Amino acid sequence: MRLAICPGSFDPVTYGHLDIIERASRAFDRVVVAVFTNPQKTPLFSVEERVEMLRQAIAHLPNVEVDASSGLLSDYALHRGAGVIVKGLRAISDFEAEFQMARMNKKLAPGVETLFMMTANEYSYLSSSLVKEVARFGGCVAQLVPEAVAARLKEKYPQPPSGGR
Ligand code: PNS
Repeated sequence: MRLAICPGSFDPVTYGHLDIIERASRAFDRVVVAVFTNPQKTPLFSVEERVEMLRQAIAHLPNVEVDASSGLLSDYALHRGAGVIVKGLRAISDFEAEFQMARMNKKLAPGVETLFMMTANEYSYLSSSLVKEVARFGGCVAQLVPEAVAARLKEKYPQPPSGGR
């Protein structure tokens, strides 16, 4: 069985992530979407919230599951018996950091390959950070994230009745 891990901080999951997860689910027998800690980022949502949002978002994909780990991605891939880590690449600017991480993961777990998928054109500008910024200042994120995620962002960033000018 070909098992792939789609790792990320998913804070929160966006349509860009879902595009990669759906394509990975067609390319592999089984996909584990795994929420990890990115030490460079301070998350808005708890791990439990992120897992819950992901589970709702991938409910239509029978060969995909959601999990979380607070350890190393390479250890997790070995522990799960996954041969592949799938990551999305939006732009050249993503490349350097992703290249470094792929190299390090290869060093730590030589049997695990990192595969990059180019993000769909319509999501090439999309990131969880930008989605949070738009939501924080009262902008509409309906086309960027699933409805349930948009609702949770509204709870995190309540807007004044006037729209907050
Ligand atoms: O969605 P992100 O924030 O770009 O994902 C980055 C993530 C969480 C996959 C990365 O930070 C990670 O792999 N964290 C787990 C800890 C780890 O293995 N660090 C070494 C990476 S070479």
